[in-house]
Amino acid sequence: MEYHTERLILRPWQECDREPFAALNANPEVMRYFLNPLTREESDKMAGVIKQKMALHGWGLWAVEEKSSGAFTGFVGLNIPSYELPFSPVIEIGWRLDKPYWGKGYAPEAARKALAIGFEQYGIDEIVAFTALENIPSQRVMEKIGMMRCEEFDHPLVPQNHPLQRHILYRIARVSLKELAAMPDKKTA
Ligand SMILES: CC(C)(COP(=O)(O)OP(=O)(O)OC[C@H]1O[C@@H](n2cnc3c(N)ncnc32)[C@H](O)[C@@H]1OP(=O)(O)O)[C@@H](O)C(=O)NCCC(=O)NCCS
Repeated sequence: MEYHTERLILRPWQECDREPFAALNANPEVMRYFLNPLTREESDKMAGVIKQKMALHGWGLWAVEEKSSGAFTGFVGLNIPSYELPFSPVIEIGWRLDKPYWGKGYAPEAARKALAIGFEQYGIDEIVAFTALENIPSQRVMEKIGMMRCEEFDHPLVPQNHPLQRHILYRIARVSLKELAAMPDKKTA
């Protein structure tokens, strides 16, 4: 199943995505808020896991294609973290785009669609996002799509005292405050 936004297509992964995905995963600038860039093998393994999870749930971390060029730009979508977090169990929204596609509002555009799919099509009640405290670009995306800044926590997979250890959690609920405010009975209550 693929989904369209104004400028992007969120679609299942194709074999030909592996090469541009490996290139962006090997780029230290794209991966500066992660512990390490990925090797080709690690990148292919990640693409395989993403594909498997999408086959299982119907939703997942979609490959994001730019309509104007047909290029694979990276991924945006929903995921169940494979490790325990202080606020588990959760469904997270995440994004990773290659550098040429940054700064165009692509991540928020695709993320709004991913939230709508999760909430409206799959009935998910709440979606979270988290990132290293230093990752301001990612937090900007969380804010642009209406997520609420919540607590800081130490990421369990990042070594103690590492500069990327401290993370920030954002949340958004299906019944968002905006929707509640729009309900006549709540307005007068
Ligand atoms: C985080 C990311 C997905 C944002 O995607 P995007 O499509 O560029 O999002 P936007 O265009 O809305 O820009 C969001 C913020 O990114 C930053 N940004 C934009 N262009 C940038 C550029 N060329 N270089 C560095 N940062 C830039 C700005 O802080 C911007 O916020 P602003 O619009 O308030 O100025 C993208 O930067 C990315 O893939 N980064 C690497 C992977 C990553 O960190 N993923 C998140 C892990 S939790």
